[in-house]
Amino acid sequence: MEKRAEKRRIVLVPVAAQGHVTPFMQLGKALQLKGFSITVVQSQSKQISSSSSQHFPGFHFVTLPESLPLSEAKRLGSVKFLMKLNETSEASFKDCISQLLLQQGNYIACIIYDKLMYFSEAAANEFKIPSVIFSTTCATNHVCCCVLSKLNADKFLIDMEDPEMQEKVVEDLYPLRYKNLPTSGFGPLESLFESCKEIVNKRTASAIIINTTSCLESSSLSWLKQELNIPVYPLGPLHVTASSPGLSLLEEDKSCIEWLNKQKPRSVIYISLGSKAHMEAKEMLEMAWGLLNSNQPFLWVIRPGSIAGSEWIESLPEEVSKMVSERGSIVKWAPQIEVLGHHAVGGFWSHCGWNSTLESIVEGVPMICRPFQGEQKLNAMYVESLWRIGIQLEGEVERKGVERAVKRLILDEEGEGMRERALDLKEKVKASVKSGGSSYEALDELVKFLNTE
Ligand code: UDX
Repeated sequence: MEKRAEKRRIVLVPVAAQGHVTPFMQLGKALQLKGFSITVVQSQSKQISSSSSQHFPGFHFVTLPESLPLSEAKRLGSVKFLMKLNETSEASFKDCISQLLLQQGNYIACIIYDKLMYFSEAAANEFKIPSVIFSTTCATNHVCCCVLSKLNADKFLIDMEDPEMQEKVVEDLYPLRYKNLPTSGFGPLESLFESCKEIVNKRTASAIIINTTSCLESSSLSWLKQELNIPVYPLGPLHVTASSPGLSLLEEDKSCIEWLNKQKPRSVIYISLGSKAHMEAKEMLEMAWGLLNSNQPFLWVIRPGSIAGSEWIESLPEEVSKMVSERGSIVKWAPQIEVLGHHAVGGFWSHCGWNSTLESIVEGVPMICRPFQGEQKLNAMYVESLWRIGIQLEGEVERKGVERAVKRLILDEEGEGMRERALDLKEKVKASVKSGGSSYEALDELVKFLNTE
């Protein structure tokens, strides 16, 4: 009896970035509700503030000493940085786990690590602790990672010069085509392929958790179940499964809710490009003019430092700034889930990070997709072509295109169709998290698995 009680501690190892920390904290919450104790390993360079961690009572936070300065990410590029981080973090993570094991009652049932933090496995193997991978992006992105892990970078580049190859459907997973494989924005292709090999081929984890649900990605999930030969637990969208918005690394400006309260139902376009994307000042100006010319009210999140050469929005000409504040509201960071659930919001212009995509689907809000890099392009393609709940804004951002996209989404019949489909999908996704639904069952199965490992 006593041993069973002690064994129920889960150690979570997220990547220290908003889009990863959010689903990890939600997973922690879901597992805490099932009776597990939760320890979160956080990075020294991006510590979770005490005001944010207060929303997770009972969670225990430990800090991993920095083994590679974050500033190296710029020099090396994201993929090389992550590979190096994995090399340099093995020893400190082993120390961290041995310390935890020494503390009374810290019998570790499982280490659940972000698939990019695979250094965790060395400690799991050394201390004979079961380990589980958590893939925080869509299942299709993991399919792509498996596919890329089998390819050769030089040959891929030559093959992709052939238009027939570009259009070829990947592993029978229509509408995923070779041209859609997320290969851009990570630095040299060779490193990307190498890191996919590391993530897929060398792993000893005994299961994989994915923040998705079967009504969104059934073919990709079936493919992964066959390919990986370990249990696959699709238990998302985690903010619903766990009834928790996650943890915000930036301070939310809640005043935008008061502003939304004054707007007409379904009239507002909400714009947010997540925690990482950057833009040129010229692009921001074109966006501003397009939004103004659409005559729809807008709530626009612009993160400080996300506009090249500016601290915030000081590069907007004064006259534009004035009109923008009359017709819209600009904030530095919003309580996004609350915003998307607000009756005044009629559309979401998003970079299509996976969390934002799931949050929009759960609220039945149709989207304008403007992906920046990597798997965001996959998500955008699914929004437009598979679920048909949004449109992609392609090519250079210019005011006419922005105005047209906003009007199509908020005012036109076409947008009405997208909204209806978005509301249908919302119902299906929400049903999957309720008793008897696929995500609900997947969480129960995961809990059984964690208790028997
Ligand atoms: C990163 C990657 O860029 C993305 O491609 C991947 O899918 C996940 O990791 P990020 O760009 O931050 O994520 O986007 P996203 O996944 O959408 O996560 C952003 C999170 O920040 C969301 O949960 C969203 O609710 C939250 N957010 C965003 C806020 O709380 N307030 C805001 O103003 C903006």
